[in-house]
Amino acid sequence: MQASSFGEKFSWGVSSAACQTEGAYLDDGKGPSIWDTFTDRKGKICNNDHARVACNFYHLYPEDLSIIRQLNIPNFRFSLAWSRIIPGGTGAVNPMGLDYYDRLIDNCLEKGIDPWVTLYHWDLPQALELKGGWTNRDVVSWFSDYVSVCAKRFGDRVGHWMVMNEPMVFTGAGYFLGVHAPGRRGVRNFFPAVHHSVLAMAEGARILKSACPDAEVGSTFSCSMIEPQTTSRWDTAAANRVDALLNRLFIEPALGMGYPVKDVPVLRKLEKYMLPGDDQKMIANLDFAGVQNYTREIVSFSLFTPYVHARLVDAKRRTKDITEMNWEVYPPSIYHMLKKFDAYPGIPKLYVTENGAAFKDVETAGRVHDERRINYLKDYIAQVFKAKQEGCKVEGYFVWTLTDNFEWAEGYRPKFGIVKVDPETQRRTVKDSGRWYGDFLSGR
Ligand code: NOJ
Repeated sequence: MQASSFGEKFSWGVSSAACQTEGAYLDDGKGPSIWDTFTDRKGKICNNDHARVACNFYHLYPEDLSIIRQLNIPNFRFSLAWSRIIPGGTGAVNPMGLDYYDRLIDNCLEKGIDPWVTLYHWDLPQALELKGGWTNRDVVSWFSDYVSVCAKRFGDRVGHWMVMNEPMVFTGAGYFLGVHAPGRRGVRNFFPAVHHSVLAMAEGARILKSACPDAEVGSTFSCSMIEPQTTSRWDTAAANRVDALLNRLFIEPALGMGYPVKDVPVLRKLEKYMLPGDDQKMIANLDFAGVQNYTREIVSFSLFTPYVHARLVDAKRRTKDITEMNWEVYPPSIYHMLKKFDAYPGIPKLYVTENGAAFKDVETAGRVHDERRINYLKDYIAQVFKAKQEGCKVEGYFVWTLTDNFEWAEGYRPKFGIVKVDPETQRRTVKDSGRWYGDFLSGR
């Protein structure tokens, strides 16, 4: 299989995010984000790691873009840090933040790399969290103002926008489980956060479309193939509920299908946060959906798990083929999810905006031999190809991620990069997987 078999128009790329790579967390007028505050709390992050320096991408971006160029990767997806652009979340814009992203975008273009920009990859300005964050309905207008500023400033050079990254993860982990920033818990926080994210995603897409009529506007969604542990009625129904929650909760209202309340009755509680007219406001006119898949989940019925009565069966207990995230390696999952998204009416295009794996690197004589990552990428890409050959409208694939970086609550332990970063010296070393990807893209 070769990259060229996907056709000339297929977009190949690599993805990253501001908070995970930039560092420079208070440089040039940036305000703190919820992740800067959350990582200050003892015991929240593995090893008490933080993102204050991360990969120092803020200063080293020219070097990283040169690596992308050298590997012949034509598209680079990164996110803008809201609190770099509007340090207080609302109000005054920080000219130095805007200048930085101008330089980053211009440097991409000078190097022949197409910038794909995510507006929200989880780093809410802390000032807004103090006002309730995603649980406060005003967040829709705060976010809209931020989107307008970005669209106006960068719209002349950015042809692909993603309004939000994985809303299920930032609301679920950040507002229900409390394991991500801002560390809130329970349905009391989760439901309003969900509904306001859905509204903000749709409103953000509207603003971008009207400010940048020639650009493609999408949003990205986490998804995993869900299977019941047994064929029993109980496990099957439990799997169906988890599927509705993890895979359908955000894309379906955006497509005008409403929340999947039939499958998860507790979602009726979302109605409490809905105002007249919201049904229409929730609809996002997306040019594409970004499909982000890593693994599959096996689900069994569980009487004692509140709300969903379902639990995920630990991957370690059922397979040896797992990553450092304790995620099963299961390439057919990406094929399955592409087919599922493809079957929705109203999504013109799909891009795989993230896929990749964390493995321990084996280093000898200055080379990083990450054979397992190469095999993972090959096998998942082959499944994307299979879906495409069957007529699925998938038109791009982005590896997560360029450099080893700050993996949220897991800190720097899991390494997803195709480029190693030495945490002491910030020295970059292209791993074997990076060389492989470069060769694959060059048709070697
Ligand atoms: C999803 C997220 O978008 C990204 O930030 C994260 O690092 C990867 N998946 C891996 O967990």
